[in-house]
Amino acid sequence: MSQQLQNMAQTIVMPGKGILAADESTGTIKKRFDSIGAECTEQTRRDYREMLFRTTETFSHNISGIILFDETIRQNAADGTPLVKLIQDAGAIPGIKVDTGAKALAGAPGEKVTEGLDGLRERLAAYYDMGARFAKWRAVIDIARSGHRRLPSAYCIKANAHALARYAALCQEAKLVPIVEPEVLMDGDHDIDRCCQVTEAVLNALFDELYDQRVALEGILLKPNMILSGKLCASQAGAHEVAEKTLQCFARTVPAAMPGIIFLSGGQSDEQATAHLNAINQVKSAAGPRYPWSLSFSYGRALQAAPLKAWGGNNNNIRSAQAAFAHRARMNGLATKGQWAPELENQAA
Ligand code: 13P
Repeated sequence: MSQQLQNMAQTIVMPGKGILAADESTGTIKKRFDSIGAECTEQTRRDYREMLFRTTETFSHNISGIILFDETIRQNAADGTPLVKLIQDAGAIPGIKVDTGAKALAGAPGEKVTEGLDGLRERLAAYYDMGARFAKWRAVIDIARSGHRRLPSAYCIKANAHALARYAALCQEAKLVPIVEPEVLMDGDHDIDRCCQVTEAVLNALFDELYDQRVALEGILLKPNMILSGKLCASQAGAHEVAEKTLQCFARTVPAAMPGIIFLSGGQSDEQATAHLNAINQVKSAAGPRYPWSLSFSYGRALQAAPLKAWGGNNNNIRSAQAAFAHRARMNGLATKGQWAPELENQAA
């Protein structure tokens, strides 16, 4: 396994730093822009993302990498500088989403499998030449009940784990660190223990496939959900229980060779995603060497909700939007060390 991949994976999860997931597909970013009444064009998408990428002070302290969408990795800033160069100059690492989305899984109503393997080898080589040094592929596992069937099926878990491992092996061949993202959705009324049970099954299937397909664990990063109560569950677990069950689930399933776990936010509020990451790192520190991986963030919505609202589609608001982004990044940076506290939310960056 190349030392280069291992170093890159370790750099991404340096204490205090995490990833900004800015890789929304055109359809998803349109939904986000609709929510603030902003027009969604190639230029407004560029302006919004350029605003985030120019929050350079934040990058040197709290953001190690940015996941880009295909359109963005090819775009230039308003002054003609490639966005990839802006990111590199700010000291962050550009990454790229390479799956082509979750599609209906044949024979399994209500379930999905992520596509994008065809031509992937060639696309990865092209992205490497454009400056990407890591990649992302997201599989979606839905726990929610559908009629009498209980999801997810073993078939869905297996199909997604297989695809994730094929993607990961191709990434390592192309010298890109694969971020392996099996997202167990928080939609539904299930309790936290059911989330733990399904996540455990998913991670066991995933690491089996990664092993079978000869993926070097030292050179990947895992991007999972936290172990949470379903959004509609009547009894919501508190931060300490979330932290304990999240760590217990990963201790049972994730090999120590893997350098880092970078959580997705998955629909948690921004402050909740920070509070949970903080609690996870506090429980980890208190347990001594028991949990060997760095535990950080790779948030989309939980980093962008505040700046998106502050920007509101108006470039006159860039400074306040950047301040809102810097604040969330700083809060999450502290949470990677278990040093966040609710009072800090009210202090200016
Ligand atoms: P969220 O943090 O909004 O869940 O997004 C992270 C991500 O990259 C999903 O693929």
